[in-house]
Amino acid sequence: MSNDGVNAGRRRFLVAATSVVGAAGAVGAAVPFVGSWFPSAKAKAAGAPVKVNVSKIEPGQQMVAEWRGQPVFIVRRTEEILSNLEKIAPSVADPESQKSVQPEYVDPKVRSIKPEILVLVGLCTHLGCSPSFRPEVAPADLGPEWVGGYFCPCHGSRYDLAGRVYKSQPAPLNLPVPPHSYESDDVIVVGVDQEKA
Ligand code: FES
Repeated sequence: MSNDGVNAGRRRFLVAATSVVGAAGAVGAAVPFVGSWFPSAKAKAAGAPVKVNVSKIEPGQQMVAEWRGQPVFIVRRTEEILSNLEKIAPSVADPESQKSVQPEYVDPKVRSIKPEILVLVGLCTHLGCSPSFRPEVAPADLGPEWVGGYFCPCHGSRYDLAGRVYKSQPAPLNLPVPPHSYESDDVIVVGVDQEKA
């Protein structure tokens, strides 16, 4: 009888101990599970907005940032480049980007928030190659009419310095303008929309 009493007490203890382990085990098992419900740090970084200081871009030059794994071209346009855009308009397929991708707060003619700073997703709208920045005027390989723009090395699509595709090119649309905004005069945030004024 006395043995039964001991055993019964020990059994209760073992049951209680097992329950505690079980509870701890359940918490341990839940941790990776909870983690998997949220995007990883890498996934968050891949989709996160990117801040770019544009103050060092020389007039007529470009810098390339990266946003969501895509190249983003940022160009400081000169007065001459901007005045050429109007002359080029009859030669491009979608001069005011009515079919192409750009945020509504971007001026449809120059395709930017501030006229001098152009921001584009640097992937050709034909099959996604990255076009080359060719700001020179009339280089031998692009011909006397060339006033600066982008040339896609894959199948030869030509774009101007607003990312507008010329007529009769393999690429159907202008280079997209990504959502972006100004945090200050010199800092652009790619991936965050400009607030409405
Ligand atoms: S991918 Fe650019 S022209 Fe084909």
